Amino acid sequence: MRSNLTVVDHPLVAHKITMLRNEETDSSAFRSLCQEVTLLTAYEALRHLPTEPVSVKTPITTTQSPMLQGPAPAIVGILRAGLVMVEAILTLIPHGRVGHLGLYRDPQTHEPVEYYKKLPDNIDQREVLLVDPMLATGGSAVHALDLLSAAGATKVDLLAIIGCPEGVAAVHDRYPDTAITLAALDERLNEHAYIVPGLGDAGDRIYGTK
Ligand code: PRP
Ligand code: URA
Repeated sequence: MRSNLTVVDHPLVAHKITMLRNEETDSSAFRSLCQEVTLLTAYEALRHLPTEPVSVKTPITTTQSPMLQGPAPAIVGILRAGLVMVEAILTLIPHGRVGHLGLYRDPQTHEPVEYYKKLPDNIDQREVLLVDPMLATGGSAVHALDLLSAAGATKVDLLAIIGCPEGVAAVHDRYPDTAITLAALDERLNEHAYIVPGLGDAGDRIYGTK
């Protein structure tokens, strides 16, 4: 039985998270660090992907060896900030199909507002990894999971860089079977629904906006 919350415990991940938290880290370094943390944590998030033995002829002999089973996995990024994570995971799964969900948080209500949706075909048959650096109130992740569910996806996991108990609870209240992988589980949300200690606004830090 898989646990439905994994917080990756690795010194390299911890080191890079500290650099991401640092307000002095500029956008270029921040983007690179997001990609590096995504690669290190995707290793855990994708551990369960099913494989099947195939016949392969090596220079020495022919043997049975595992390959990923089924249609190519789908990597679905929540815009904007999830884009850097999608790019990182494509280096691991170059044949992966990519989906985009455009959501932003209303500044007053903190509720997600949807502005774009494009998902790969046959999503119901694919393993889906939903990616977004921040799991704060969980509103964006739950909305994205609702859209994926409405599109027929049944095998959906979530990878975020920093989460908090409120966000994990929101996702698991509605989708108890969704496995969440985090690089860090922070303390709480503040009165503006930002994660504490967190790293600030991920999209703004990635793209140098305010
Ligand atoms: C950030 C982040 C998540 C969301 C998390 O995006 O990338 O999508 O907030 O917050 P939640 O768990 O409370 O929903 P934001 O809304 O700032 O949009 P942006 O990426 O376009 O800047
Ligand atoms: N979105 C972010 O980018 N950061 C937070 O701390 C919360 C939501």
